[in-house]
Amino acid sequence: MKVTITGAAGRIAYSLIPLLLHGRVFGHDTLIDLVLLDIPDAFQKLKGIELELEDSSFSLLRSLKITTDAEDAFVGCEVAILLGGFPRLPGMERRDLLKKNAENIKAQADAMNRTANRNVKVVVVANPANTNCLVAIKTATNIPPENFTCLTRLDEERLRGMCAKKIAEATHAMVRGDEVENVFIFGNHSNTQVAYIGDGAYKATSAADATPLSTFISEETFSSQILPRVQNRGAEIIKCLQVSSALSAAEATAKHVRDWVGIGHPQNPHQSFSMGVYLQENIYGLTSGLVYSVPCLRAADTACGYNVRGNLNIPESTLALMRRSEAELLEERNEVVEFL
Ligand code: LMR
Repeated sequence: MKVTITGAAGRIAYSLIPLLLHGRVFGHDTLIDLVLLDIPDAFQKLKGIELELEDSSFSLLRSLKITTDAEDAFVGCEVAILLGGFPRLPGMERRDLLKKNAENIKAQADAMNRTANRNVKVVVVANPANTNCLVAIKTATNIPPENFTCLTRLDEERLRGMCAKKIAEATHAMVRGDEVENVFIFGNHSNTQVAYIGDGAYKATSAADATPLSTFISEETFSSQILPRVQNRGAEIIKCLQVSSALSAAEATAKHVRDWVGIGHPQNPHQSFSMGVYLQENIYGLTSGLVYSVPCLRAADTACGYNVRGNLNIPESTLALMRRSEAELLEERNEVVEFL
């Protein structure tokens, strides 16, 4: 598997690379040709990572290239993980990065368009992830738009963890986030995102059956405590660390790629997962052509590798929130129109 990571000298990459090379994404039988791209100012750091990888003897690392040249980085690339961009600082919204990062993404997508594998699968993590992903789609016209996705799995995992905490409070039992199923994120990776637990369930590893989340979490608790906390979790972390999330962002990126094109969901291959995707017509009445987070199911028989789950019975109150996030994405699209 030829994998290119941009922003590879950064903190997310530092946590992500070992996950890839331990087989957590593509399995223990898939050798990886890894290309690490970053800007010229970060070349010394890339060099340091190269030395550390030499010193780690990962058995799955077949080849390694470090480079500051996008043209070089994407040749034959099968999976592109776009982490590179200016990070959000305390007090900023992700949207404040729009113009700065759109330019970067455009240059990378342009290189990818010329040199990557035609069926390359792309995940955009750099913020604002949805609109950056749209810029990449509009630039890389030789690559199908549905092959581009953006990361909202981080938000889904946050939601899962917060639900687990509430269930633990209600049951006085140990509850893990991965025992919470079928919870999703709709919309933008921003504070208008819509966390949705209407179909969610808790299934303890030892239990035969799943219990609906509504048994443990009231609507009031969800909308006054969990929803706003998920929406603002990135900022909550920045406030503590003074830099943005990296460990959890890497873990979520690994899960995103694993469930989409890697070794699949370890517990349940029919499990849906949230990804920002290029919206087709007739998905929950939303504007097509935006990159919007929806629940997806792995579909190895399709070229893009997933299907959108467009058949959930979403209540009107949630649809209204989803439209608010859609409106924000339309505004963001207008702001970067010169890059589209
Ligand atoms: C996150 O959600 O942690 C990342 O998108 C970083 C940020 O700016 O919040």
